[in-house]
Amino acid sequence: MEMYKANDNRYADMVYRRCGRSGLLLPAISLGLWHNFGSVDVFSNFIQIAHVAFDKGITHFDLANNYGPVYGSAEENFGRILKKGLGQYRDELVISTKAGYDMWPGPYGNWGSRKYLMASLDQSLKRMGLEYVDIFYSHRPDPQTPVEETMGALADIVRQGKALYVGISNYNAEQTEKALAVLREHRVPCLIHQARYSMLDRWTEPDLLPLLEQEGVGMIAFSPLAQGMLTDKYLNGIPENSRAAKSTGHLQREQVTEEKISKIRQLNDLAKQRGQTLAEMALAWLLKDGRVTSVLVGASSVAQLTDNLKALQNTAFLKEELQTIESILQ
Ligand SMILES: NC(=O)c1ccc[n+]([C@@H]2O[C@H](COP(=O)([O-])OP(=O)(O)OC[C@H]3O[C@@H](n4cnc5c(N)ncnc54)[C@H](OP(=O)(O)O)[C@@H]3O)[C@@H](O)[C@H]2O)c1
Repeated sequence: MEMYKANDNRYADMVYRRCGRSGLLLPAISLGLWHNFGSVDVFSNFIQIAHVAFDKGITHFDLANNYGPVYGSAEENFGRILKKGLGQYRDELVISTKAGYDMWPGPYGNWGSRKYLMASLDQSLKRMGLEYVDIFYSHRPDPQTPVEETMGALADIVRQGKALYVGISNYNAEQTEKALAVLREHRVPCLIHQARYSMLDRWTEPDLLPLLEQEGVGMIAFSPLAQGMLTDKYLNGIPENSRAAKSTGHLQREQVTEEKISKIRQLNDLAKQRGQTLAEMALAWLLKDGRVTSVLVGASSVAQLTDNLKALQNTAFLKEELQTIESILQ
């Protein structure tokens, strides 16, 4: 394969939004490598997805230590993608990784200790062939480890130059408030919170989003398509090759319930009336909220990614459309 060269017009169509009250702008749509970039996936397919993403202005690529499967393989594959050309644009890329879930055996390969976070980031940097990541996350709160230890490790990682910014993921509002306070004491502000948020999962709305806005912390919404359910693909059953059908996918068949499908069908009709696909409307619906810095999509094909990018062409909703959506989602 020839060395990749990026499209000269890559910044023409993407929208960039400020991450909280920081200096960093993120693309409204970012690409996550949780699925589709592992050792079980096809290199020629996912390298093309990464190239099309960057060619369309997606500057932010999100990873974690254990993305694959197998654990670590998404980072290794991303390292290969960087070596094949994307890496020449390192200063135009925002690369994130995380530690917090199960990664290696024994007591030091999981949760939130300083021991785990420090070692894990070193391993991630090696796998990707990087000197630093742009954002390093505590992937989940650890009820057994003092938040001072976990946040202290994040602050030291920034001081060591191994990450430019830090973030937290899957912390509820109360846990977030504590983590932000500790980071503030270290004079390393929390850049961003990565939380699951979609039309089908709105746990962030009552407390977390108002808190992040007040504290000037950005928010990146993961699984904005509810792992593919907020598209037209499950309307007539579970197709082969979909995430719900694959043994390596995190979406279980049982999660695609008749109750959800009936809502999805109504949402799909509304999307059609708006001249969008359901995927486009589901992303646009999140982006209408200025507190959401970016939506973090996954894609198993270039066609899905280009569909998702079209969401940016219409993120405005009429009052009646929003009311219809509320009544469908209730
Ligand atoms: N912090 C955390 O704890 C956490 C947890 C989960 C995810 N994340 C991050 O968020 C990223 C995105 O999560 P996600 O993959 O669940 O996001 P998602 O965008 O909700 O789901 C992506 C999946 O939906 C399907 N899809 C995407 N676009 C489509 C389209 N236009 N039409 C039809 N189907 C489409 C594809 O699945 P098929 O295989 O069925 O084609 C794709 O792999 C992850 O990669 C990761 O970076 C973080």
